[in-house]
Amino acid sequence: MSDASANGGRADGTLLTVDHLTMRFGGLIAIDDVSFTARNKEITAIIGPNGAGKTTVFNCLTGFYSPTVGRLTLYHGDMPFQLEQMEGFRIAAKARVARTFQNIRLFGAMTVLENLVVAQHNKLMKASGYTVFGLLGLPVYRHAEQDAIELAKYWLDKTGLTEHADLSAGNLPYGAQRRLEIARAMCSEPVMLCLDEPAAGLNPRESAELNDLLLHIRDDEQIGLLLIEHDMNVVMGISDHIIVLDHGSKISDGTPKEVREDPAVIRAYLGEEEDEELPPEVAADLVQRDGEGAP
Ligand SMILES: Nc1ncnc2c1ncn2[C@@H]1O[C@H](COP(=O)(O)OP(=O)(O)O)[C@@H](O)[C@H]1O
Ligand SMILES: [Mg+2]
Repeated sequence: MSDASANGGRADGTLLTVDHLTMRFGGLIAIDDVSFTARNKEITAIIGPNGAGKTTVFNCLTGFYSPTVGRLTLYHGDMPFQLEQMEGFRIAAKARVARTFQNIRLFGAMTVLENLVVAQHNKLMKASGYTVFGLLGLPVYRHAEQDAIELAKYWLDKTGLTEHADLSAGNLPYGAQRRLEIARAMCSEPVMLCLDEPAAGLNPRESAELNDLLLHIRDDEQIGLLLIEHDMNVVMGISDHIIVLDHGSKISDGTPKEVREDPAVIRAYLGEEEDEELPPEVAADLVQRDGEGAP
């Protein structure tokens, strides 16, 4: 494992607390007084129908939006970080929250390896002393650069991308691009990784590999993961804790078993059946799984 994580979370395991988060866009309330906690070394899933506010939660956590109301506290190191008061680049660099996006955002013209080295620019620039001389090859910079390449290689291996290292990221097959996004996020050595629908568009085999990768990140890197996901096989299979949003409000919060037996959740999903954007199998799967535990 890389040395990213060791100090993530409070002594009781709490990594993130979201307190009374509200996000308004003009008259629209995208998130309405939502509170939850996420623990270190756990996968916390955020699920809910389209437009429920899931991505908006990520955008608030990562500084893309400044919340209308609420406190977002991340625990690691000596002092908690108040994310709602920080700018995005500081959240990434200091609070060490990394994310992927619902739509892939890679440097398509760069190689796979370059994408992973660029992700480590913070520590490379620090090692350079922010000078051209540093970049021109003083030993401290060369060491940092070598470390960056080693970490990149580690994540290439973990994501099955080693053989693609020298290809342009933009030319990778779709599933490989999704894995590269996760590798890139991990190269920034986060204490919390936020993944926005990482299984979208994956075939069943790729989806199963993604499950293994996320479990590896939880168990071997020992960081916390926040996972937005529509694929109920992924969510129910690997989550430790699930939060359900609907129309901007939290309607359920518990273990996978608790959530799938919660009538409010079943109602919210069944109500979406006619929504073309939500895969109907999501609702069907939830109902089917609800029956699985029955005698
Ligand atoms: N920048 C924005 N400006 C206006 N409305 C937004 C913005 N971002 C999100 N919304 C609205 O907030 C609601 C929640 O969106 P989103 O968080 O993307 O939902 P989800 O990810 O659960 O599908 C939607 O009604 C969406 O249209
Ligand atoms: Mg979304």
